[in-house]
Amino acid sequence: MAPQDAVLGWDEDTTAEAYAAFTHDFPMYGDTSRDLAHRAHLTDSRLVVDLCGGTGATAKAILALAPPGAHVISLDNAAAMQRIGRRTLTDPRLSWVTAPAEHVDHHAPAGQVDAVVCNSAIWKTDIAAVFAAARRVLRPGGRFVFNIGGGFAGVTHPDEQTGRTGPSLNTLIHQVAARDHGYTPPAADSKSPKLPLASVTEHLAAAGLDLVDTEVTAQHSTMAEKRAWLSIPVFARPAGDFTHAQRMEILKKAYAQTSPDAATVTSWLVTVTQRASRQP
Ligand SMILES: C[S@@+](CC[C@H](N)C(=O)[O-])C[C@H]1O[C@@H](n2cnc3c(N)ncnc32)[C@H](O)[C@@H]1O
Repeated sequence: MAPQDAVLGWDEDTTAEAYAAFTHDFPMYGDTSRDLAHRAHLTDSRLVVDLCGGTGATAKAILALAPPGAHVISLDNAAAMQRIGRRTLTDPRLSWVTAPAEHVDHHAPAGQVDAVVCNSAIWKTDIAAVFAAARRVLRPGGRFVFNIGGGFAGVTHPDEQTGRTGPSLNTLIHQVAARDHGYTPPAADSKSPKLPLASVTEHLAAAGLDLVDTEVTAQHSTMAEKRAWLSIPVFARPAGDFTHAQRMEILKKAYAQTSPDAATVTSWLVTVTQRASRQP
């Protein structure tokens, strides 16, 4: 059986606190949220859904671009994440809904949402159900904008190749785990990407959403940011029967082989879709 703390998920206070601290101290989720909010064309919006909104980094980016009279619904199924958001992001234009993304159509009026924005989460959901539900709530011409982590989409920005000066922290973690714990990565690690564009496109078509634009973007950061990210319990590695304390010990040894300012690059597949204007 997996150790107790190996199964910590999003609905755990330790994860939520660590995630909120990371988004406060480092730019990644703020930057990617702002990028999506821009692409959602919010200037004239009245109702916007922040899908899988977590502690509110994306809602904050949406609120900064939406007009004063707009309303934002931040929906996430992890109450622990939202407890922090409710405490730290108080804005009369924002409401919090604890529910699965697949049920967004139970929590927003049909055909009246100007935009749905989903930062750094779509591959964790049942995309067929989410796309169909998002389509139901969007007004004709309304946008559904989301990004997919490069590893999950099977894309790599050119900067990810050129920007790297040594092995990635992930590689070092696996080396330390192999050396100190006899760890061998599960076969699943080498499988094909979980959510390539071809599969996204098929599901969009099935749901009645049009693909407007895609772009592979690069998020530039440092080893120090990567280490902080890998300290968040849900992201800590390696997978398998390790306690969180063991993972943090492995991370410490791996990080000691790098330098804090070394550049790291994370690739994203950014996807802009919309409900066609003339669809029934
Ligand atoms: C990496 S966080 C992103 C949060 C936020 N969008 C941001 O940029 O900070 C992923 C979030 O997705 C949520 N999530 C994952 N699967 C979900 C689902 N099926 N329905 C609702 N929320 C989900 C998790 O609870 C978590 O809060």
